[in-house]
Amino acid sequence: MTRITLTVDGAQVSDDVEPRLLLVQYLRERLGKTGTVIGCDTSNCGACTVHLNGTSVKSCNVLAVQADGSEVTTVEGLAQDGQLHPVQEAFRECHGLQCGYCTPGMIMQSIDLLNTNPNPSEAEIREGLEGNLCRCTGYHNIVRAVQHAAGQGAPS
Ligand code: FES
Ligand code: FES
Repeated sequence: MTRITLTVDGAQVSDDVEPRLLLVQYLRERLGKTGTVIGCDTSNCGACTVHLNGTSVKSCNVLAVQADGSEVTTVEGLAQDGQLHPVQEAFRECHGLQCGYCTPGMIMQSIDLLNTNPNPSEAEIREGLEGNLCRCTGYHNIVRAVQHAAGQGAPS
């Protein structure tokens, strides 16, 4: 076991973990952060995307011990004072989801994309989200949601 201490959605946590434990397993099984989901476990689908020190990562591709000393934000840490994050709101307004399984990862990746490029073209949005798979929407409304958030000057 290895002792890790990190901040998750603004709260500091410390735990003893097995070195092989994945960050996504730690978030879901130890902390109950089930808003972060597992779609493949092989770093293909992006459903497990969270922010590690402000940058999106696929949390099935990171060991919990690698997050020691870091700041992790999950989709559950985005809303503030009962208000959805602007990118969450844009997904809601543009209906950028159907079953919703990919949505947490899509939103976390979209925020990172807008942090890097606040005014992306449609092609840049599609390229920025290419590591996140959606089997329902055909991606059109997801792209529209990111365009909408960018048009609103979404703070990210
Ligand atoms: S569960 Fe992590 S990329 Fe699919
Ligand atoms: S909305 Fe169902 S997988 Fe994307």
